[in-house]
Amino acid sequence: MGDADLMAGKSVLVTGSTGGIGKATATGLAALGARVGITGRDQARTEAAAADIRVATGSPAVDAFAADMSAQAGVRHLAAQVADAYPRLDVLVNNVGGFWAHRHVTADGLERTFALNHLAPFLLTGLLLDRLTASAPARIVTVSSGAHAGGRIDFGDLQGERNYSGQRAYSQSKLANVMFTYELARRLDGTGVNATVCHPGVVRTGFGAEDQAAYFAVMIRVARLFMKTPAQGALTPVYLASSSEVEGITGRYYADRKPKTSSHASYDTTAAAQLWQISGGLAGLTATA
Ligand SMILES: NC(=O)c1ccc[n+]([C@@H]2O[C@H](COP(=O)([O-])OP(=O)(O)OC[C@H]3O[C@@H](n4cnc5c(N)ncnc54)[C@H](OP(=O)(O)O)[C@@H]3O)[C@@H](O)[C@H]2O)c1
Repeated sequence: MGDADLMAGKSVLVTGSTGGIGKATATGLAALGARVGITGRDQARTEAAAADIRVATGSPAVDAFAADMSAQAGVRHLAAQVADAYPRLDVLVNNVGGFWAHRHVTADGLERTFALNHLAPFLLTGLLLDRLTASAPARIVTVSSGAHAGGRIDFGDLQGERNYSGQRAYSQSKLANVMFTYELARRLDGTGVNATVCHPGVVRTGFGAEDQAAYFAVMIRVARLFMKTPAQGALTPVYLASSSEVEGITGRYYADRKPKTSSHASYDTTAAAQLWQISGGLAGLTATA
Protein backbone atom coordinates (compact mmCIF):
# COMPACT_ATOMS: atom_id res chain seq x y z
CA MET A 1 0.00 0.00 0.00
CA GLY A 2 1.46 3.36 -1.03
CA ASP A 3 1.41 6.52 1.08
CA ALA A 4 -1.56 7.87 -0.90
CA ASP A 5 -3.82 5.20 0.63
CA LEU A 6 -2.14 4.62 4.00
CA MET A 7 -5.27 6.06 5.66
CA ALA A 8 -7.84 4.85 3.10
CA GLY A 9 -11.12 3.90 4.76
CA LYS A 10 -10.24 5.81 7.94
CA SER A 11 -12.11 8.78 9.38
CA VAL A 12 -10.21 11.43 11.26
CA LEU A 13 -11.23 14.55 13.15
CA VAL A 14 -8.66 17.34 13.57
CA THR A 15 -9.77 20.21 15.83
CA GLY A 16 -8.68 23.80 15.26
CA SER A 17 -7.94 23.21 11.61
CA THR A 18 -8.93 26.31 9.63
CA GLY A 19 -5.28 27.38 9.70
CA GLY A 20 -1.87 26.73 11.23
CA ILE A 21 -0.75 23.29 12.37
CA GLY A 22 -4.30 21.88 12.38
CA LYS A 23 -4.98 22.73 8.75
CA ALA A 24 -1.59 21.32 7.72
CA THR A 25 -2.29 18.15 9.76
CA ALA A 26 -5.72 17.75 8.13
CA THR A 27 -4.11 18.29 4.71
CA GLY A 28 -1.44 15.68 5.43
CA LEU A 29 -4.01 13.11 6.53
CA ALA A 30 -6.35 13.83 3.59
CA ALA A 31 -3.35 13.33 1.29
CA LEU A 32 -2.90 9.88 2.88
CA GLY A 33 -6.47 8.95 1.89
CA ALA A 34 -8.37 9.62 5.14
CA ARG A 35 -11.83 11.17 5.30
CA VAL A 36 -11.03 14.27 7.36
CA GLY A 37 -13.27 16.47 9.49
CA ILE A 38 -11.94 19.93 10.22
CA THR A 39 -13.19 22.43 12.80
CA GLY A 40 -13.23 26.17 13.46
CA ARG A 41 -15.51 28.74 15.07
CA ASP A 42 -17.03 30.17 11.92
CA GLN A 43 -18.95 28.04 9.40
CA ALA A 44 -17.89 30.06 6.32
CA ARG A 45 -14.21 30.16 7.31
CA THR A 46 -14.26 26.43 8.08
CA GLU A 47 -15.96 25.64 4.74
CA ALA A 48 -13.31 27.76 2.97
CA ALA A 49 -10.49 25.87 4.69
CA ALA A 50 -12.11 22.54 3.75
CA ALA A 51 -12.31 23.71 0.13
CA ASP A 52 -8.58 24.64 0.22
CA ILE A 53 -7.71 21.15 1.52
CA ARG A 54 -9.83 19.48 -1.18
CA VAL A 55 -7.96 21.46 -3.85
CA ALA A 56 -4.53 20.87 -2.28
CA THR A 57 -5.01 17.10 -1.92
CA GLY A 58 -7.48 16.24 -4.68
CA SER A 59 -9.56 14.48 -2.01
CA PRO A 60 -13.28 15.33 -1.92
CA ALA A 61 -13.63 13.74 1.55
CA VAL A 62 -13.09 16.81 3.72
CA ASP A 63 -15.94 17.92 6.01
CA ALA A 64 -16.36 21.23 7.84
CA PHE A 65 -17.74 21.38 11.40
CA ALA A 66 -18.20 24.74 13.11
CA ALA A 67 -18.31 25.20 16.89
CA ASP A 68 -16.85 27.51 19.49
CA MET A 69 -14.90 24.99 21.51
CA SER A 70 -14.21 27.39 24.39
CA ALA A 71 -17.87 26.80 25.36
CA GLN A 72 -18.90 23.34 26.55
CA ALA A 73 -22.17 23.62 24.61
CA GLY A 74 -20.03 24.13 21.48
CA VAL A 75 -17.96 21.01 22.23
CA ARG A 76 -21.12 18.98 22.82
CA HIS A 77 -22.64 20.29 19.59
CA LEU A 78 -19.43 19.40 17.70
CA ALA A 79 -19.35 15.87 19.17
CA ALA A 80 -23.00 15.33 18.19
CA GLN A 81 -22.37 16.55 14.62
CA VAL A 82 -19.32 14.28 14.26
CA ALA A 83 -21.09 11.27 15.75
CA ASP A 84 -23.90 11.79 13.24
CA ALA A 85 -21.60 12.21 10.25
CA TYR A 86 -18.99 9.52 11.02
CA PRO A 87 -20.25 5.98 11.78
CA ARG A 88 -16.63 5.18 12.67
CA LEU A 89 -13.88 7.44 13.99
CA ASP A 90 -10.37 6.07 13.71
CA VAL A 91 -8.34 9.07 14.84
CA LEU A 92 -9.06 12.16 16.92
CA VAL A 93 -6.39 14.87 16.76
CA ASN A 94 -6.90 17.32 19.64
CA ASN A 95 -5.08 20.29 18.16
CA VAL A 96 -7.21 23.30 19.09
CA GLY A 97 -5.44 25.73 21.40
CA GLY A 98 -4.48 29.31 21.95
CA PHE A 99 -2.58 31.87 24.00
CA TRP A 100 -4.06 35.01 25.54
CA ALA A 101 -1.96 37.72 27.17
CA HIS A 102 -4.93 38.83 29.26
CA ARG A 103 -7.48 36.83 31.23
CA HIS A 104 -10.76 36.10 29.42
CA VAL A 105 -13.80 34.25 30.74
CA THR A 106 -15.84 31.80 28.65
CA ALA A 107 -19.61 31.36 28.46
CA ASP A 108 -19.24 28.74 31.22
CA GLY A 109 -17.43 31.21 33.49
CA LEU A 110 -14.05 29.50 33.04
CA GLU A 111 -10.66 31.01 32.17
CA ARG A 112 -10.33 30.64 28.40
CA THR A 113 -6.86 29.05 28.14
CA PHE A 114 -7.80 26.31 30.59
CA ALA A 115 -11.21 25.90 28.93
CA LEU A 116 -10.05 25.73 25.29
CA ASN A 117 -6.62 24.11 25.60
CA HIS A 118 -7.44 21.51 28.25
CA LEU A 119 -11.15 21.14 29.02
CA ALA A 120 -12.29 21.16 25.36
CA PRO A 121 -10.09 18.19 24.35
CA PHE A 122 -10.94 16.46 27.64
CA LEU A 123 -14.69 16.80 26.99
CA LEU A 124 -14.56 16.10 23.24
CA THR A 125 -12.49 12.96 23.82
CA GLY A 126 -14.93 11.78 26.47
CA LEU A 127 -17.92 12.38 24.24
CA LEU A 128 -16.37 10.59 21.24
CA LEU A 129 -14.79 7.77 23.22
CA ASP A 130 -17.51 5.20 22.53
CA ARG A 131 -17.19 5.85 18.79
CA LEU A 132 -13.38 5.57 18.95
CA THR A 133 -13.54 2.38 21.04
CA ALA A 134 -16.04 0.83 18.61
CA SER A 135 -13.61 1.69 15.77
CA ALA A 136 -10.51 0.21 17.50
CA PRO A 137 -7.67 0.09 16.76
CA ALA A 138 -8.01 3.85 17.10
CA ARG A 139 -5.77 6.73 18.09
CA ILE A 140 -6.08 9.96 20.07
CA VAL A 141 -3.29 12.43 19.36
CA THR A 142 -3.10 15.60 21.42
CA VAL A 143 -0.98 18.57 20.37
CA SER A 144 0.78 19.94 23.45
CA SER A 145 3.97 22.03 23.44
CA GLY A 146 7.52 22.05 24.75
CA ALA A 147 6.15 24.90 26.89
CA HIS A 148 4.57 22.22 29.11
CA ALA A 149 8.01 21.87 30.72
CA GLY A 150 7.65 25.31 32.34
CA GLY A 151 4.15 24.47 33.55
CA ARG A 152 2.76 23.63 36.95
CA ILE A 153 -0.81 22.57 37.70
CA ASP A 154 -1.86 25.15 40.27
CA PHE A 155 -4.68 23.29 41.97
CA GLY A 156 -5.21 26.30 44.26
CA ASP A 157 -5.82 28.67 41.32
CA LEU A 158 -6.52 26.57 38.18
CA GLN A 159 -8.45 29.43 36.56
CA GLY A 160 -5.84 32.14 37.23
CA GLU A 161 -8.40 34.08 39.28
CA ARG A 162 -5.90 35.28 41.86
CA ASN A 163 -2.99 35.76 39.53
CA TYR A 164 -3.12 35.50 35.73
CA SER A 165 -0.22 35.46 33.32
CA GLY A 166 -0.65 34.34 29.69
CA GLN A 167 2.56 32.32 29.82
CA ARG A 168 1.66 30.61 33.08
CA ALA A 169 -1.87 29.76 31.89
CA TYR A 170 -0.54 28.45 28.58
CA SER A 171 2.24 26.31 30.13
CA GLN A 172 -0.21 24.91 32.69
CA SER A 173 -2.68 23.99 29.91
CA LYS A 174 0.03 22.30 27.84
CA LEU A 175 1.22 20.33 30.89
CA ALA A 176 -2.44 19.38 31.39
CA ASN A 177 -2.45 18.03 27.77
CA VAL A 178 0.48 15.73 28.59
CA MET A 179 -0.95 14.56 31.93
CA PHE A 180 -4.38 14.05 30.34
CA THR A 181 -2.81 11.83 27.66
CA TYR A 182 -0.89 9.72 30.15
CA GLU A 183 -3.97 9.29 32.37
CA LEU A 184 -6.15 8.55 29.33
CA ALA A 185 -3.69 5.90 28.15
CA ARG A 186 -3.84 4.25 31.59
CA ARG A 187 -7.65 4.30 31.57
CA LEU A 188 -7.85 2.96 27.99
CA ASP A 189 -5.40 0.12 28.55
CA GLY A 190 -6.64 -2.97 26.70
CA THR A 191 -9.28 -1.15 24.62
CA GLY A 192 -7.21 -0.82 21.44
CA VAL A 193 -7.49 2.99 21.64
CA ASN A 194 -4.05 4.54 22.00
CA ALA A 195 -3.24 8.03 23.21
CA THR A 196 -0.10 10.00 22.36
CA VAL A 197 0.88 13.64 22.79
CA CYS A 198 3.40 15.81 20.97
CA HIS A 199 5.31 19.04 20.63
CA PRO A 200 4.95 20.18 16.99
CA GLY A 201 7.96 22.52 17.08
CA VAL A 202 7.88 26.31 17.00
CA VAL A 203 5.71 27.03 14.01
CA ARG A 204 4.81 30.14 11.97
CA THR A 205 1.02 30.37 12.44
CA GLY A 206 -1.62 32.81 13.65
CA PHE A 207 -0.94 31.56 17.18
CA GLY A 208 -1.51 34.11 19.96
CA ALA A 209 -2.49 36.86 17.50
CA GLU A 210 -5.94 37.49 19.05
CA ASP A 211 -4.54 39.00 22.23
CA GLN A 212 -0.81 39.58 22.17
CA ALA A 213 1.37 41.32 24.75
CA ALA A 214 3.40 44.13 23.09
CA TYR A 215 6.76 42.50 23.91
CA PHE A 216 5.52 39.20 22.42
CA ALA A 217 4.48 40.87 19.14
CA VAL A 218 8.01 42.29 18.68
CA MET A 219 9.66 39.01 19.68
CA ILE A 220 7.45 37.02 17.28
CA ARG A 221 8.21 39.30 14.33
CA VAL A 222 11.91 38.43 14.66
CA ALA A 223 11.41 34.81 15.67
CA ARG A 224 9.06 34.09 12.73
CA LEU A 225 12.10 34.04 10.45
CA PHE A 226 13.40 30.95 12.23
CA MET A 227 10.14 29.10 12.75
CA LYS A 228 8.93 25.91 11.07
CA THR A 229 6.28 26.09 8.36
CA PRO A 230 2.85 24.68 9.30
CA ALA A 231 3.56 21.67 7.07
CA GLN A 232 6.76 20.98 9.02
CA GLY A 233 4.85 21.48 12.29
CA ALA A 234 2.28 18.93 11.14
CA LEU A 235 4.84 16.17 10.56
CA THR A 236 4.71 14.79 14.13
CA PRO A 237 0.89 14.87 14.53
CA VAL A 238 0.46 13.27 11.09
CA TYR A 239 3.06 10.63 12.01
CA LEU A 240 1.28 9.80 15.29
CA ALA A 241 -2.10 9.71 13.56
CA SER A 242 -1.04 7.49 10.68
CA SER A 243 2.28 5.68 10.89
CA SER A 244 2.47 1.93 11.38
CA GLU A 245 5.65 2.61 13.39
CA VAL A 246 3.50 3.83 16.29
CA GLU A 247 0.83 1.13 16.05
CA GLY A 248 0.05 0.04 19.61
CA ILE A 249 2.15 2.81 21.20
CA THR A 250 0.30 4.62 23.97
CA GLY A 251 1.00 7.07 26.78
CA ARG A 252 4.07 8.59 25.12
CA TYR A 253 5.27 12.12 24.31
CA TYR A 254 6.83 12.84 20.91
CA ALA A 255 8.73 15.62 19.18
CA ASP A 256 10.29 15.47 15.72
CA ARG A 257 8.58 12.09 15.23
CA LYS A 258 10.66 10.59 18.06
CA PRO A 259 9.58 9.54 21.57
CA LYS A 260 10.94 12.00 24.14
CA THR A 261 10.86 12.34 27.90
CA SER A 262 8.38 14.98 29.04
CA SER A 263 8.78 17.10 32.16
CA HIS A 264 9.18 15.48 35.59
CA ALA A 265 5.83 16.98 36.70
CA SER A 266 3.98 15.36 33.78
CA TYR A 267 4.61 11.86 35.20
CA ASP A 268 2.91 12.63 38.56
CA THR A 269 0.10 10.08 38.53
CA THR A 270 -1.57 11.45 41.67
CA ALA A 271 -1.79 14.94 40.18
CA ALA A 272 -3.03 13.49 36.86
CA ALA A 273 -5.84 11.62 38.63
CA GLN A 274 -6.75 14.76 40.59
CA LEU A 275 -6.77 16.87 37.40
CA TRP A 276 -8.97 14.25 35.72
CA GLN A 277 -11.46 14.30 38.55
CA ILE A 278 -11.65 18.12 38.65
CA SER A 279 -11.93 18.29 34.84
CA GLY A 280 -14.72 15.72 34.83
CA GLY A 281 -16.62 17.82 37.37
CA LEU A 282 -16.09 21.09 35.47
CA ALA A 283 -17.06 19.49 32.15
CA GLY A 284 -20.03 17.56 33.57
CA LEU A 285 -18.42 14.30 32.52
CA THR A 286 -17.94 12.39 35.74
CA ALA A 287 -18.77 8.98 34.29
CA THR A 288 -16.18 9.06 31.45
CA ALA A 289 -13.73 6.21 30.93
N1 LIG B 1 2.53 27.62 16.69
C1 LIG B 1 3.44 27.10 17.51
O1 LIG B 1 4.63 27.47 17.48
C2 LIG B 1 3.05 26.03 18.49
C3 LIG B 1 4.08 25.46 19.29
C4 LIG B 1 3.74 24.46 20.18
C5 LIG B 1 2.45 24.00 20.28
N2 LIG B 1 1.47 24.58 19.50
C6 LIG B 1 0.09 24.07 19.66
O2 LIG B 1 -0.40 23.71 18.39
C7 LIG B 1 -1.82 23.86 18.35
C8 LIG B 1 -2.22 24.65 17.12
O3 LIG B 1 -1.58 25.90 17.17
P1 LIG B 1 -1.46 26.88 15.90
O4 LIG B 1 -0.19 27.63 16.11
O5 LIG B 1 -1.67 26.14 14.64
O6 LIG B 1 -2.68 27.88 16.21
P2 LIG B 1 -3.49 28.89 15.25
O7 LIG B 1 -2.76 29.18 14.00
O8 LIG B 1 -3.85 30.03 16.16
O9 LIG B 1 -4.81 28.04 14.90
C9 LIG B 1 -5.76 27.80 15.87
C10 LIG B 1 -6.93 27.03 15.29
O10 LIG B 1 -7.88 26.82 16.34
C11 LIG B 1 -9.13 27.36 15.97
N3 LIG B 1 -9.75 27.97 17.15
C12 LIG B 1 -9.27 28.97 17.91
N4 LIG B 1 -10.12 29.25 18.91
C13 LIG B 1 -11.16 28.39 18.78
C14 LIG B 1 -12.36 28.17 19.50
N5 LIG B 1 -12.69 28.91 20.57
N6 LIG B 1 -13.18 27.20 19.08
C15 LIG B 1 -12.90 26.45 18.00
N7 LIG B 1 -11.77 26.61 17.28
C16 LIG B 1 -10.92 27.57 17.66
C17 LIG B 1 -8.84 28.40 14.90
O11 LIG B 1 -9.96 28.47 14.04
P3 LIG B 1 -10.87 29.78 13.81
O12 LIG B 1 -10.02 30.98 14.13
O13 LIG B 1 -11.25 29.69 12.35
O14 LIG B 1 -12.01 29.59 14.75
C18 LIG B 1 -7.66 27.75 14.18
O15 LIG B 1 -8.12 26.80 13.25
C19 LIG B 1 -2.22 24.52 19.69
O16 LIG B 1 -2.69 23.53 20.58
C20 LIG B 1 -0.90 25.09 20.19
O17 LIG B 1 -0.87 25.17 21.62
C21 LIG B 1 1.73 25.59 18.62
